[in-house]
Amino acid sequence: TFNVTILPNAEAASAAVADKILSRVRAKPAAVLGLATGQTPRRVYAKLIDAVANGEISFAHATTFNLDEYCGLTCSHADSFAAYMHRELFDKAGFDQHKINLIDGAAADEKAEADRYARLLVQHTVDLQLLGIGTNGHIGFNEPGSSSMSRVRVVELSEETQAANRPTLIELDQVPRHAITMGIADILDAREIVILATGQAKAESVYRSLREAPDDTCPASHLAGHGNVHWILDEAAANLL
Ligand code: GLP
Repeated sequence: TFNVTILPNAEAASAAVADKILSRVRAKPAAVLGLATGQTPRRVYAKLIDAVANGEISFAHATTFNLDEYCGLTCSHADSFAAYMHRELFDKAGFDQHKINLIDGAAADEKAEADRYARLLVQHTVDLQLLGIGTNGHIGFNEPGSSSMSRVRVVELSEETQAANRPTLIELDQVPRHAITMGIADILDAREIVILATGQAKAESVYRSLREAPDDTCPASHLAGHGNVHWILDEAAANLL
């Protein structure tokens, strides 16, 4: 039994996701939020910024953990997920920078950085984890082949992901080949998971995740093992269901 909401378009789906985040933080101002990057959550973050501007909410007490980061990009590189988060959300929504947890993609020792992040993460329980989904079913940067027991680690990106999520400023052959990501087990540790998928390109991975048995070839299918996951889709992403 899945909790699935299908809305007419990306705008409506993003509004529904923003509302879930707002209610969580209203009920628990010091909530721990797990956050995602990519094109999909941008509208969600814009709505959170609006809510702050309208005095409807404060994120000052919230703690955040991001899912992943490219290896080799410093936080000042515009294509890093750290820069994305500051630009799309943190700097405009009153987050406390001491409560923001990001992976340092430029760390000299990537394995040590993954271990540092893993140690931080185990000291917290994520109240609400926001997810997008890759065209190949990846969540975070857990590519096909990732087990449901995977933890924070350095991963190699598939060519499909390198191309699909190609940062705007970088030529395809310069896209980082490695990343650090929270594992699937880390994601499943969250109390509540909200996964947003919009557009036809996500329809197949949404179908596989919701209609086929959990399997490492479609990482998002492992969400079936969690009791509190809400899928929020637009009609295009839901069109194979
Ligand atoms: C990246 C991120 C994921 C994100 C996915 C989909 O690979 N690591 O967290 O969900 O891309 O991105 P988009 O929303 O741009 O399709």
